[in-house]
Amino acid sequence: MARESILPLRCEGLSFRVGDLTLLQEVSFTLGQTGVTAVLGPNGAGKTLLLKLCHGLLAPSAGHLQWRYRPADLRMRQAMVFQKPILLRRSVAANIEYVLRVRGMSRAESDARTHEMLRLTGLAEFAARPARALSGGEQQRLALARAWATAPDVLFLDEPGANLDPAAARAVEELICTIAASGTKVVLATHDLAQARRTAQDVLFLHRGRLRAAGAATDFFASPPDETAAAFLRGELYW
Ligand SMILES: Nc1ncnc2c1ncn2[C@@H]1O[C@H](COP(=O)(O)OP(=O)(O)OP(=O)(O)O)[C@@H](O)[C@H]1O
Ligand SMILES: [Mg+2]
Repeated sequence: MARESILPLRCEGLSFRVGDLTLLQEVSFTLGQTGVTAVLGPNGAGKTLLLKLCHGLLAPSAGHLQWRYRPADLRMRQAMVFQKPILLRRSVAANIEYVLRVRGMSRAESDARTHEMLRLTGLAEFAARPARALSGGEQQRLALARAWATAPDVLFLDEPGANLDPAAARAVEELICTIAASGTKVVLATHDLAQARRTAQDVLFLHRGRLRAAGAATDFFASPPDETAAAFLRGELYW
């Protein structure tokens, strides 16, 4: 029987302050169970902070997060991939096997799942190489494979296309769509509009710590809700 998702996640009035600085202010939205939601906004808008709050790496100064339900292994039901992936000083395959073994999977199962993930991410021939010797784009794919291997209900991705050449960026985008199609909800922080257009069904648009728009991606791109969003789409909003 399929496991029940921890989603939807309802975020109500989330604020995040450091000293006198209000970095996120009263952000409210709901993340559904499926598809790709792009978190858009210029540098410094608060995208990374919002992902960290949702993933539980930071606690909000005000407001609250409500998962559909909270299993004991709430954090294990989620995964996050940072802009600069942190890989273990082990082989490519061992990086994936490690997270599966920590979750209690048998060696035989984890071997099979690891090889399946490496195949799906085009990394099969790299299995025995040291993970940290991979190129930037290959490391990004390994980080995605490792996060996806655990079949999380939700995967938070922070700028997964940054620093990749166009072909590698496309490969990562295709992977994001494949992951979403497998049933994992993807939340993608990016300032790459083309990437968001190609992958996302929903958009959260942040500017200076405030949520300026939330809704269907096609609506957002076809008719941005205000002048700030329109300027962002024209490439004229810098911060
Ligand atoms: N611990 C902190 N103390 C002070 N300011 C912080 C702290 N963490 C983040 N900020 C500031 O909060 C703002 C939002 O940061 P965040 O990393 O979420 O931006 P972002 O939208 O992810 O930007 P980018 O596109 O550059 O990755 C930035 O101005 C950042 O400098
Ligand atoms: Mg960021």
